[in-house]
Amino acid sequence: MRGRILVVDDAEVNRELLRAILEDEYIVDTAKDGEEAIYRLREYREDISALLLDLQMPRMDGFAVMEEIRKNGWLQKLPVLIISGEDSVDIENRCFDLGVLDFIHKPFEASIVKNRIKNTVELFACKNQLEREVERQTEALRKQSRIIQIQAGQLKEAEAFHTLMMQYRCAIMEVETKLKVLNEAFSRQYKRNPFESIKSRLKTSESIYEKLTRKGYPVTLENIEEKLSDVAGIRVICSFPDDIYRLAELLIRQDDIILLKEKDYIRNPKTNGYRSLHLIISIPIFLSNEKKYMKAEVQFRTIAMDFWASLEHKLKYKKSVDNAEEIAAQLKACADSIEALDYQMQKIRDKIDRHSD
Ligand code: GTP
Ligand code: MG
Repeated sequence: MRGRILVVDDAEVNRELLRAILEDEYIVDTAKDGEEAIYRLREYREDISALLLDLQMPRMDGFAVMEEIRKNGWLQKLPVLIISGEDSVDIENRCFDLGVLDFIHKPFEASIVKNRIKNTVELFACKNQLEREVERQTEALRKQSRIIQIQAGQLKEAEAFHTLMMQYRCAIMEVETKLKVLNEAFSRQYKRNPFESIKSRLKTSESIYEKLTRKGYPVTLENIEEKLSDVAGIRVICSFPDDIYRLAELLIRQDDIILLKEKDYIRNPKTNGYRSLHLIISIPIFLSNEKKYMKAEVQFRTIAMDFWASLEHKLKYKKSVDNAEEIAAQLKACADSIEALDYQMQKIRDKIDRHSD
């Protein structure tokens, strides 16, 4: 595409002379004084490759045009060459101070004019391209640094999440240890183990995410600690119902454990037949530099009820089961039989115990 040159000179002969010299290579526009030049620059200065500016003109002279160009910040994108009959060093220096790039002296020598303009336009295009490239690279660097910042942030978040999960694992260990200690003491006193086994689990990150989202809370570390009480889960499987209450009582009585909530589904079974004792407790863990209270959910149930719950759990999480209602009714009947059986076994145990005393 051909460049566009704006020639500003009050003498028509100069304008036409320059047009004749340049029109083979450029589109040449002309203005007959400073005011007209400014008007055109306002309209389409982005399309102009170079401005050739006379100094002495009526209405608005070349110096005033330069002042206006500088004031508007147009010099960045617009190379200005002065066309002048002046030979004064002072005037030339004043023009350079104003941001002029070069001088073309009258009378015009065609080849010199062409070369001067060609050099200026090319140099300026080159400078602008370089500036654009630097800008592009700076923007790319800025983006990269933003990405690095985000990644660093995520890494820190992930780090904090892993620390919190470690703390929940410690809470599980503390509860397990307390239960094992109780097992020792209890078995000396009652000549049997109060529980058969302990099953512990740390809630998975998927499950944490799912539960918080389902409850309508944003997934944050604060909400994990505040809104969830079953991240640390301990299930205690006992042989007899009365051992459940004895063991739970012994655990809660310990002076570093705080009972936050108790749900007794043994005395108040769920309509589906589910029977367990649930305790939400707060238990301290001792870290290298702090003591921190963690929430944990401890479920107590009998061996038979545990067997029942795992089968019932399967039914609950199966999306489509034929005869689901009938199966639920059968499970309810089983739960009731299990309760009867558990208490019957307990009575038999009492009888045996009395005889062995
Ligand atoms: P979740 O949101 O499921 O934790 O329930 P919740 O916070 O209302 O507390 P709840 O004490 O009722 O249940 C806690 C946990 O006990 C559940 O996550 C299950 O592991 C277990 N649970 C409760 N009800 C049932 C049930 O009807 N059947 C089975 N199989 N397990 C149950
Ligand atoms: Mg729960």
